Amino acid sequence: MKLTYCMPFALLTLAHAGLLLKRDSCQRQCNLSQCPSAPQACYYGRAKDSCGCCVVCGASEGEKCGGAGGAVCGDGMRCERRGVEEKARFVCVCQSNGVVCGSDGRTYPSVCRLRAENARAKTENAAPVTVLQRGECHASGEGKT
Ligand SMILES: *[C@@H]1O[C@H](CO)[C@@H](O)[C@H](O)[C@H]1NC(C)=O
Repeated sequence: MKLTYCMPFALLTLAHAGLLLKRDSCQRQCNLSQCPSAPQACYYGRAKDSCGCCVVCGASEGEKCGGAGGAVCGDGMRCERRGVEEKARFVCVCQSNGVVCGSDGRTYPSVCRLRAENARAKTENAAPVTVLQRGECHASGEGKT
């Protein structure tokens, strides 16, 4: 009888221990000289790692994120819970949701994606695309490209 009462507590303690162990994987003090060299190009911007120490590339949209040692979302994104119960997981989502129309006449799934494409374009010295409007690019006039 006593055992049934104790079980939940035992499980909680185990979970707790796991959390503590994970947190311990962060250096007590951030020593930047022990970080891997900072990434050159990050399409989704740079971010501090989950320990708040080393500079890493931000995770892209739809990428798993969160937790100790987990990925940190890039610029303009947040780590959001998706799905229900056991299927739930945390993924990076663009804070500003909805498609946008770029100055190149292309419709982008999100402003985060447009920014990422710009970051890549920059490495190729291509001109950046700006946001013309929220929503899809309207096929203005007859010119459908
Ligand atoms: C940081 O790490 C470097 C290389 O391991 C070491 O030489 C240095 O003493 C460390 N600094 C601190 C403040 O711990």
